Amino acid sequence: MPVVYIEDIARYVGQEVTVRGWLRTHRSSGKIQFLTVRDGTGDLQAVVSRGVVGEEQFAQSARLTQESSLILTGTVKADMRAQGGYELEVIRIEPIQIAEPYPIQPKEHGVGFLMEHRHLWLRSSRQHAILRIRHEIIRACRNFFDDRGFVLVDAPIFTPNACEGTTTLFQTDYFDDKAYLTQSGQLYSEATAAAFGKVYCFGPTFRAEKSKTRRHLMEFWMVEPEVAFAELPEMMDLAEALLSFIVGRVLETRRTELAVLERDTSKLDRVVPPFPRISYDEAVSLLQKKSNPIQPGDDFGGDEETLLSHEFDRPVIVHRFPRAIKAFYMQSDPERPDLVLCMDVLAPEGYGEVIGGGQRIHEQDKLMARIQEHKLPEEAFRWYVDLRRYGSVPHAGFGMGIERVVAWVCGLDHVRETIPFPRMLYKLYP
Ligand code: 4AD
Ligand code: MG
Repeated sequence: MPVVYIEDIARYVGQEVTVRGWLRTHRSSGKIQFLTVRDGTGDLQAVVSRGVVGEEQFAQSARLTQESSLILTGTVKADMRAQGGYELEVIRIEPIQIAEPYPIQPKEHGVGFLMEHRHLWLRSSRQHAILRIRHEIIRACRNFFDDRGFVLVDAPIFTPNACEGTTTLFQTDYFDDKAYLTQSGQLYSEATAAAFGKVYCFGPTFRAEKSKTRRHLMEFWMVEPEVAFAELPEMMDLAEALLSFIVGRVLETRRTELAVLERDTSKLDRVVPPFPRISYDEAVSLLQKKSNPIQPGDDFGGDEETLLSHEFDRPVIVHRFPRAIKAFYMQSDPERPDLVLCMDVLAPEGYGEVIGGGQRIHEQDKLMARIQEHKLPEEAFRWYVDLRRYGSVPHAGFGMGIERVVAWVCGLDHVRETIPFPRMLYKLYP
């Protein structure tokens, strides 16, 4: 008797199979019970008839509660009326554990309640669809870089360096010393790019963001390519190719999940090159025309990103921001020393920034001056400056936040649902 996964059920029509899973719903009409069983790969309707399983098993089946675990054996039937097009005519039913009254009912629950039960909420069809799409996006990132000759070289999580400013660092003891949880693998990727040419790192990153927004998590995953000899325009091309590839892949392989989420896929169909590219100055004029109070020199906040991203039907690349509002390592624009050769990519439909990156300073003196200007501890950055002493070359890279991309591709209004166990402001449970 083959033990099968529900996603493969179509191959077994007419055969007897065993399915192992959990009970989602249960409905009874006298002599027949209809169970919806999920096994992680899909849902399947199972039909239990008194006439087939006998009195004792029929009564046992009637006692199964929502989320009880069970093993079912039966014959696979094609049935257009059943969800998924197949059903199981049950011959034998073996409960494994009868679940206690399940806290999440098929009704509306508040987000606070659901977040408290995140460990169970993950079983719902909506969360299931989101996390399968997340997996597909991660797989697409890896395939994209692997197929282009990038080498995966991961960065450490404990680090003495602040990469993205000193205000969002999580600090921890490190024996007699102190360490931070990494904000970005970039500085290390710059070292590995000089060793391997084209690299990417992909891991969790941490920021003590003291504000509650729909875009920020304390712990998020970032994929960060870094390329030796590359300059800003090449990074724009790479970011454009990556995002188009990811969206194309999800459209190709995750239609079912997008349908569960009721995602308007016509919006995703438009995510193809070329992406519009505008300078920071142009972006500011555009915002002012839309009556946004931004002044030249100001950084974008959530409102500005949302406004800008609604202006385009695909991601927009904003480049050359003022040096004063950007990270210490950014290369200045030779034509406008007050600007840096950086870019932010904003996803459409109001989603805002999903990618940040650009060209790095590759001259030792200039970098030292910036480190001092930003009052960063020189000793901790000695290794990073070293890279400018031994065969320094122009180089560039970027970071893409996985959760922001998942939120956009899935059409979610908050990043909290894009990661299995979100870490949020003052929230560490479960
Ligand atoms: O723009 P950021 O801060 O850039 C960097 O960290 C660079 N060192 C990356 C590089 O050049 N290698 O962050 C990059 C991306 C953002 O565009 C966003 O998608 C995501 O990381 N991100 C966050 N996602 C969720 N929660 C947060 N608190 C995030 N902060 C940044
Ligand atoms: Mg950024």
